[in-house]
Amino acid sequence: MTAPVIDVHLDADDGQVRRAQRARRTLAADPPFVDPVWFYDEHGSRLFDAITRLPEYYPTRTERSLLEAHADEIVAWGADALVELGSGTSTKTTLLLDAMARAGTLRRYIPFDVSEETLRDAAHRLTDRYPSLAVHGVVGDFHQHLPTIPDGGSRLVAFLGSTIGNLAPSERRRFLPDLDCAMEHHDRLLLGIDLEKDPDRLVAAYDDASGVTAEFNRNALRVLNRELGADFDPDAFDHVALWDPHQRWIEMRLLAHTSQVVTVPGLSEPLRFGAGEGLRTEISAKFTVDGMTKELWTHGFVVDEVFVDAAQDFALLLAHPYC
Ligand code: AVJ
Repeated sequence: MTAPVIDVHLDADDGQVRRAQRARRTLAADPPFVDPVWFYDEHGSRLFDAITRLPEYYPTRTERSLLEAHADEIVAWGADALVELGSGTSTKTTLLLDAMARAGTLRRYIPFDVSEETLRDAAHRLTDRYPSLAVHGVVGDFHQHLPTIPDGGSRLVAFLGSTIGNLAPSERRRFLPDLDCAMEHHDRLLLGIDLEKDPDRLVAAYDDASGVTAEFNRNALRVLNRELGADFDPDAFDHVALWDPHQRWIEMRLLAHTSQVVTVPGLSEPLRFGAGEGLRTEISAKFTVDGMTKELWTHGFVVDEVFVDAAQDFALLLAHPYC
C-alpha cells in the first residue's frame, strides 16, 4: 500500500480571499451573479447528492449507466492512469478504476479538485479499495493549474457530470485549449455532456417538485453570508430555473419576492433588489454531440468514440489531442 501524495497549489486562505474578491465583484455587476462554486459547502454538497437521486434529475443516473455499460471499452486503449477533474467523491470513479483493474492496466489515480478535504477523503477511500493504486492528488483550479497534473503513462482525463456546462462559452474557449496543452497525444479525454432536449424536462430537472434544488440554490446565499459576512435573507428569495433558447442553457436565479437591501462588507454600497429582481447563480449549458465534437476539434481534440443512452439524454465523448 502506497501513501497518497497530494500537491497543494491552492493555499486554502489564498483561495478563500480570491474567491471572496471575485464574489464581491460579480455581486456588484449589472446584472449581479455569483459562480456556482458558492452552492457547495458541506450542506450544499449533501443537497447536490440528493439532487442526483431526484426522479426529475436524469443526468447523474444516465451517465452512470453509460459508464456501467461502456467502462471496459472506454479504458481498452490501455489507460493506466485516471485523472479526474472536479469532484472526486463519486461512484463513477470506481466504475472506471474497476474497468482498468479488470484490464490489468490500473496504476495511478490523479484526482484534481479545488478542495483539499474532498481530495484527501477520495485518496484514502480509494487506497483502501485498491491497495496497489498510486494516488497523486492535485489541489488546484482549472483556470490555472492544469499544467501541474502529473504526466507519464497513458492517462484517461475524465471531466464528468456535464460540469463543463457550468462554464460560459468564453470560459470554455480558455479551458479547452489549456486542457489540450496539459495532455499528451496518447492521452484520452472522457467528457460527459448533458444533451439538449424538451425544455420542459430540462426545467423540471432544475426545479424539482420536492424543492431540493430550490434549497440548493438558496444555500448559495447562506454560504455568501458566512464567508463574506453578507446579510442575505435566503427565505426572501424565490428559486427560478429557466431555459434560455438563444444561449442554449438553463439558468438558475434567486429573485427577491419583496424589495431587499443586502449589505456586503467591502462593497461601497448595499445591493438593492426590487421585487422580482435578483441574481444569477448558475448556468448549465446543454449540448449536441455534433456541436461539442466541433467545439473540441476547434480546440485541438478529435472525438474517437461517442456513447449515448437510448433516450439521447446524455453523452460521453472519448477524444484525444490531435497534435
Ligand atoms: C454538477 C454542474 C453538472 O448543472 O446539472 C444540479 C449542478 N445545479 N442542479 C448541473 C446542478 C442544479 C449540475 N452540475
